Amino acid sequence: MTQDTGRPVSLRQIAPDLLLIEVAGRRVLTQAECPHRKGRLRYGYLNGRTLRITCPLHHSTFDLLTGQQVAGPPCGSLRVTLLPEDAASPRSAAEAAAYAEAVLPEAGAP
Ligand code: FES
Repeated sequence: MTQDTGRPVSLRQIAPDLLLIEVAGRRVLTQAECPHRKGRLRYGYLNGRTLRITCPLHHSTFDLLTGQQVAGPPCGSLRVTLLPEDAASPRSAAEAAAYAEAVLPEAGAP
């Protein structure tokens, strides 16, 4: 994964279909696979300045706050959820599954 070096960013795969991205003081849960052809977003380019992630396969780019696709082959939006500031970060697959059920009802968490 390449990152914008201006701001601290982190990206962790916390379940088979769930990423936790921490950037610019925000925490975002998102699906791990690109909606285009299932590119692994954990290997994508994360831009901490624009708060966007770009898929490594065909370069679809998504806004991390809305999930809306802003570039690349048409494929729809990325499922994203902005965690509340006071919410604990999920640290295990079991916690991630609970989050996924609560906030990403369509995510394929274990
Ligand atoms: S798989 Fe992500 S843009 Fe094609």
